[in-house]
Amino acid sequence: MAEISVLGAGSWGIALGLLLHKNGHRVTMWSALESEVNMLLTEREHKIGLPGIKIPQEIAITSDLDEAVSGKDVIVMAVASKFVRATAHRLQGKISKGQIIVNVAKGIEDKTLMRLSEVIGEELPEADVAILSGPSHAEEVGNGMPTAIVVGAKTQETAEYLQNIFANDVFRVYTSSDVLGMELGAAFKNVIALAAGIADGLGYGDNTKAALITRGIKEIARLGEAMGAKPATIYGLSGIGDLIVTCASMHSRNRRAGILIGQGRTMEEAVKEVNMVVEGIVSARAATDLAHKYNVEMPITEKVSEVLFNNADAKNAVYDLMLRDKISEHEEMPWE
Ligand SMILES: NC(=O)c1ccc[n+]([C@@H]2O[C@H](COP(=O)([O-])OP(=O)(O)OC[C@H]3O[C@@H](n4cnc5c(N)ncnc54)[C@H](O)[C@@H]3O)[C@@H](O)[C@H]2O)c1
Repeated sequence: MAEISVLGAGSWGIALGLLLHKNGHRVTMWSALESEVNMLLTEREHKIGLPGIKIPQEIAITSDLDEAVSGKDVIVMAVASKFVRATAHRLQGKISKGQIIVNVAKGIEDKTLMRLSEVIGEELPEADVAILSGPSHAEEVGNGMPTAIVVGAKTQETAEYLQNIFANDVFRVYTSSDVLGMELGAAFKNVIALAAGIADGLGYGDNTKAALITRGIKEIARLGEAMGAKPATIYGLSGIGDLIVTCASMHSRNRRAGILIGQGRTMEEAVKEVNMVVEGIVSARAATDLAHKYNVEMPITEKVSEVLFNNADAKNAVYDLMLRDKISEHEEMPWE
């Protein structure tokens, strides 16, 4: 049994807290939001994030960060990506050397273009930072539906330790040494999910969706490889796996925001209506900046950025994509 603390008590934090509790670990949940802590303490349920799923009394819930992290074997960082740096910063002086922090948030930091494990590593150099990523909606994990996911870590020892902590008969955990590839896949699939949502909102069908998923993973792979990711990671659970689930599911807030934009709302209106952090928006800007930095072509991502940030017409953006220069599907594959 391990002592585990989960920082961030939204849908994913709670689903993981419940999973870890079922696996026999002692779990403490922490939130920076007093209102969230109060709701969880009184209702024993997150009425908005994970309605209908009760949190057992044995899971401790606190707003005291010292109490949450002191002496814990593993700290799961489950705040939304834009709060990762601030939360890691608040942990300064509270983490001992080698203490494991598993980040489960997905995104790239705005402006610095840093991966979230790099952000945590910069704030907390003494921590052993790992990540958990893959196709895993909180609603389904919370209801015990079979899910396969990947833990990425600097060492095999940490990866296998975490694999044993998280795995059970409905939660299959693989390990990976390619943290970079996993983080890029996790962040950029949200951009393609926005595109898939936009296509849905425009009334397009399954052909369009399949084209976006397939050509989307191709451009993520192009950028990933330029940045040092392993192709197998991009075509694995944390890459194509997560892209498929995000583009297909109504659980995805990125896809839902995309649908609203496709139906004619502005980015701001869509975010307001979804009423949750839409992480793909920051990731779209980051991916576009990184594509320019690494001189990589990412046409879908570029068009999503134009629609989001320059109010470009979504339908015209699709025509532009369809009418790009005619090319071979795999330019790297020469003719005999
Ligand atoms: N929901 C899922 O199914 C799922 C699955 C896999 C990964 N993720 C990733 O996990 C992360 C969390 O997802 P979620 O759905 O639980 O998100 P969420 O929007 O429900 O937010 C998570 C939590 O962030 C915390 N938070 C809010 N404001 C904060 C602040 N100012 N300072 C510190 N913490 C604050 C709160 O505890 C909040 O509940 C995201 O990066 C998401 O991409 C989510």
